[in-house]
Amino acid sequence: MAEPKENLQMEKIVSLCKRRGFVFQSSEIYGGLNGFWDYGPLGAELKRNVKELWWHAMTRQRDDVAGLEATIIMSPKIWEASGHVATFSDPMIDCKTCKGRFRADQTDEIACPQKPSKCVNECHGEKTEARAFNLMFQTYVGPTATAADIAYLRPETAQAIFAQFKNVLETSRQKVPFGIAQVGKAFRNEVTPRNFTFRSREFEQMELEFFIKPDEVIEAIHGSVATVPETGHPGEPQPNWGWQAWHHYWVEERVRFYEGIGLSRETLGFHHQTPAELAHYARACTDILFKFPFSKKDAAGNVIGDELEGIAARSDFDLSQHQRFSGKPMGVFDDELRAAWAKLPKEKQDDLWKRYYDHRKNYLTKSAKPDETPEQISQQATNDANGLAKGQYIPHVIEPSAGVDRLILALIANAYSEVTETDDKGKSETRVTMKFHPRVAPIKVAVLPLMKNKPEIVQKAEAVRALLRPWMNVFYDEAGSIGRRYARQDEAGTPFCVTIDFDTLGEKPELLDTVTLRYRDDGKQERLKISELLDFLLSKTR
Ligand code: GLY
Repeated sequence: MAEPKENLQMEKIVSLCKRRGFVFQSSEIYGGLNGFWDYGPLGAELKRNVKELWWHAMTRQRDDVAGLEATIIMSPKIWEASGHVATFSDPMIDCKTCKGRFRADQTDEIACPQKPSKCVNECHGEKTEARAFNLMFQTYVGPTATAADIAYLRPETAQAIFAQFKNVLETSRQKVPFGIAQVGKAFRNEVTPRNFTFRSREFEQMELEFFIKPDEVIEAIHGSVATVPETGHPGEPQPNWGWQAWHHYWVEERVRFYEGIGLSRETLGFHHQTPAELAHYARACTDILFKFPFSKKDAAGNVIGDELEGIAARSDFDLSQHQRFSGKPMGVFDDELRAAWAKLPKEKQDDLWKRYYDHRKNYLTKSAKPDETPEQISQQATNDANGLAKGQYIPHVIEPSAGVDRLILALIANAYSEVTETDDKGKSETRVTMKFHPRVAPIKVAVLPLMKNKPEIVQKAEAVRALLRPWMNVFYDEAGSIGRRYARQDEAGTPFCVTIDFDTLGEKPELLDTVTLRYRDDGKQERLKISELLDFLLSKTR
């Protein structure tokens, strides 16, 4: 039976990743470890570029975001407060016949250990009841390894940001609205890792927690909460934006980021999570999807896509939880609110007070500890609402949370392009070109001396490499015919090749100190002065 086309495409991608050193199976010499992947020389560069571009766009190019780099292992209390200890689980079932273990919600997609096939379709063994399987990796801190020493590898980078919220606020001189960004490893003991690097057990996240004023505070200060058009980028942030405008803004900002690294809107999709799909902390979440070769199709045959990034409106859940679990205040003081509140008519104060009270009571009731009484909850909600008059509130959060490894896979799938050419003798050759956007390409430029046995050419090529190397990743290659060298670079996704030849040395005097610049995507070539090369390449690759 013929392979489905999308599987063939994934096979080609997986094969190229290994052949060219983008991605290797972790621990391959020992048979690998399911759900773990290593990045080879080209993959490491690609990944580094993506993370740096994200960091640059999210922190350095903005006045309102500060960075953080926290530890992977943190106090286990963080994961109690966040809800991960109690609820971060997938439903798992076992097959009594083949002993396969898989997710209850994905029964058609598990490999049966007895047959290289699908458990439900092939094995049909009797299944156990579904039971919750917590996805956090557990370890012990210190030598005694008792229950009191249990700790977890973080399943998301977000919680460190919430736990350090006050420290960052106090040291960065930021004021709400502002964000804290972090890039780092996260770990989830997935029941069924799958789709190459898409669902891995060790992965990297790029997360921003953007803290905003609650809508009641915006209304108290500005009279009303601004709405923004439902489509398109809403423009520069405005002081009277409420959570919906901020949420929409961050979805559009993130789409701009993806477009800026070569993922056009046509390759992306959107999924607005339904109330049943939302995580316990979220009031809305928009997933940005990429149409992977393995992505499913809708009834009309359109590829739906799989999640690259979720942009969640997390309300004030996380800071509230850490305030309750740590006993440390997580609220902020806002002079503008205090001044505005004093000038509000009594009716407006009462209206805002009641809405804020209801919101807080709702949260406190949902996350009440067993020993908390309704009276205590009402009293706490009253205290919280009374805080508005004093300029106090707990910030709400919009969270754009992206998976680095998924994005790398999307960039690789998007870049993959092949052409098959047949020569006069009927011999066919398939050539792969990885059409990465120059900003993410692992190698920005290859410097190629036309001949390696001409010392003047080699010296000139080495000088060009030395000129470019402080600024970008340069690959120097003098082995093989120039055609083969171009082909190797096409497969690595190098957007530009620079060839140093006899004209560079002045064989045609008017071409002295010029090079041949070759473009990867169409193979076109032009002459460029060496003195103009660096500026040209910087303008294309940054
Ligand atoms: N912080 C959200 C997530 O990890 O999915």
